[in-house]
Amino acid sequence: MTFTKDELAAVEKAVLSRRTFKVIGDVADTVSLDAELDERCRALVRRAVGAADAAPFHYDRNFDGVAQPWRVKILWHDACQKVAAHFCQWFDNVKPGNKLPGMLSACGACVVVSWLPQFEGAFEGSVSNPGQALPPKEKQIQIDQEHLAATSAYVQNLLLLLTASNMGTYWSSGGQFRSEAMKQRLGVENSGSVLAAVFVDFLPSGEGQGNATQQAKGAPERVPGKLASKRAPMERWVSEVSIDQI
Ligand SMILES: Cc1cc2nc3c(=O)[nH]c(=O)nc-3n(C[C@H](O)[C@H](O)[C@H](O)COP(=O)(O)O)c2cc1C
Repeated sequence: MTFTKDELAAVEKAVLSRRTFKVIGDVADTVSLDAELDERCRALVRRAVGAADAAPFHYDRNFDGVAQPWRVKILWHDACQKVAAHFCQWFDNVKPGNKLPGMLSACGACVVVSWLPQFEGAFEGSVSNPGQALPPKEKQIQIDQEHLAATSAYVQNLLLLLTASNMGTYWSSGGQFRSEAMKQRLGVENSGSVLAAVFVDFLPSGEGQGNATQQAKGAPERVPGKLASKRAPMERWVSEVSIDQI
């Protein structure tokens, strides 16, 4: 497999242009999406969710016969709006200023990515080889950390593919999506521990969305990631190691 310079430039472009934007709408004044745009973006999201599966993973998680340690649930725009509308009824711990209902109202999709702990914090029935001797504690911790690390690689793949599909992304820790109460509401018990609720913006400032129409009365607020401008330059966190003495 070789890449041309243009292909390398395209990959770099996706990596460098991925940026967090929280898109916050108004629960009472919902965004409706153009049907053709919605259809096209759903196909692109499904494609990205599938292609992101090329992420590396170190251990066979072997749960439900599936080796990968990640699991994915997709909530489309209409489902997100229903969750937004019921959010304050479903949860009694919603603080004033909680942005999830507003983000759920505005997004085209919310892709919830979870990972399956195998040992620590594992859910009932999840240990892959019941009856078999467990590995030493240190090894258990390493295996679980690497299931989590692999799932992070999955999420980053997804963000890059969505970015290259001209959609906006925001990796949220998930807030109430992490709770058992939400899992019950969504009927997704045994889906492990939520690592990311990826909010997908089908209308990132109209860029690449020539025929999009957005019918909300007020444009949603767009908030950049709070650490985006805090990156230290490369020379502060990378060093090249040479072995001079043996
Ligand atoms: C594991 C993980 C969880 C995150 N969770 C949140 C979150 O809950 N709330 C938030 O505002 N940003 C969250 N972010 C996004 C970061 O704020 C964002 O990546 C950072 O500010 C850098 O901005 P950039 O993504 O535009 O480079 C999360 C990022 C990661 C990797």
